[in-house]
Amino acid sequence: MTDSGQKEKMMTHLEELFGFDLEQARTFISFFQDEMKRGLAGNQSSLKMIPSYIGRPIGSEQGEYMALDLGGTNLRVLTVRLDGRGGASVTAARRFTVPQSLMHATGHELFDFLARCVSSFLDDHSSKNTRSRHLAFTFSFPVVQNAVNSGILLRWTKGFAVSGVEGKDVVAMLADALSRQCLKNFRVAALANDTVGTLMAKCYADPDCDMGVILGTGTNACYPEKAGRIANMSNVPENREIIVNLEWGDFNRIEQNIFDQALDRQSLNPGAQRLEKMVSGMYLGELLRLVLLNLIEKGVWLNPEQRCHFQRIHSLSSEHLSRAEAGEDILSSMGIPGTTKEDAALLARVSHIIAARAARIAAAAIAAVVTWMDENIEKRHSIAIDGSLFEKYPQFRTNMESMLVELYGGRSAHFDLCLTPDGSAVGAAVIAAVAAKTYTRDEEWVGDS
Ligand code: BGC
Repeated sequence: MTDSGQKEKMMTHLEELFGFDLEQARTFISFFQDEMKRGLAGNQSSLKMIPSYIGRPIGSEQGEYMALDLGGTNLRVLTVRLDGRGGASVTAARRFTVPQSLMHATGHELFDFLARCVSSFLDDHSSKNTRSRHLAFTFSFPVVQNAVNSGILLRWTKGFAVSGVEGKDVVAMLADALSRQCLKNFRVAALANDTVGTLMAKCYADPDCDMGVILGTGTNACYPEKAGRIANMSNVPENREIIVNLEWGDFNRIEQNIFDQALDRQSLNPGAQRLEKMVSGMYLGELLRLVLLNLIEKGVWLNPEQRCHFQRIHSLSSEHLSRAEAGEDILSSMGIPGTTKEDAALLARVSHIIAARAARIAAAAIAAVVTWMDENIEKRHSIAIDGSLFEKYPQFRTNMESMLVELYGGRSAHFDLCLTPDGSAVGAAVIAAVAAKTYTRDEEWVGDS
């Protein structure tokens, strides 16, 4: 077989391995809803379906709130003003980077760092923006909540491995750290996942919004559910709406190919976050690296000496895929000499194959949740989406939309995918405002208004 014949055969094989066709999407949706049902009923499921003890805002909430938003290595402290008419504005904000070393430190050290960031933010803005002592804490990891302002970390994701936090109440840990920084009059009014923040931020101005999705370093979603359909919520009126965090990154009824399996084996959390490892920005670069190494080994791309450029784990990121797909010569910018246009074209094609699957799986997961709420997609669903993949990856949205068109034809127009930048941070303030009249630890349900 000629060189190009062998290359083409290999690419067809990769397209099959990373394929996610209409039939697979339909099966995925049915398994996904099955897991949603089990999770809601409190049975063993890869979808945790965690109640957030909060419902959607009505748009008239107002005041100024302070928020602490830990999404991953990005930490933001900010104050947000809600005008009571659906308008939210960030009045002060500061961004911090969590040092790599803290991702493997002790909980005490990590939470002390968070409290120091709050303190230094207050030093900068003490005069005008700190009247509110109610803090909303967006913590973007799987946490089982037992009230709007308390929750136990199930396990770390996204490369974090901080000791002494799993199994603990992260609000209590933050409160202790704040008091070690002498910030004693702060009350953590609400704890929220970033998906919930994103939904709340969008919903504050758009009441049709009924889903929050993150497609960034990690991936996950939330939607509003009737309390009566959620296990162990008998103390809440059954028609009351509670936002449920799916933790869909851990969905596991999806087939892994040999590259997914290799990535999983070498990860910090083998066996966990199966869907996240196929979809989210943290892993797409690593999938690409594993495929490229395989192509070098098979003799269909570059040559064996150039293997060294792809040796280091996690040395490629989703940005590499997006730049390659957009036609940039990333091989030269990586300092690899003597590569051809053909090499770059193949790299772009592999990037497309991996990212298109991610987008199609994400769309199918959204479809599963929307059709759970509205089986025949009779009404418009505004879906608040935040995260770098959705915001910045050239074809991500288009690939998601074509999956929805394949699934539902004309009715796919009822899926309104809305970019909601900064959603989790602004949403945290909305959550604090809603929490002020909801259900907090040591208090009765006070949410009926
Ligand atoms: C976490 C979720 C989070 C998502 C997006 C995942 O790794 O488990 O809680 O919402 O990342 O940040």
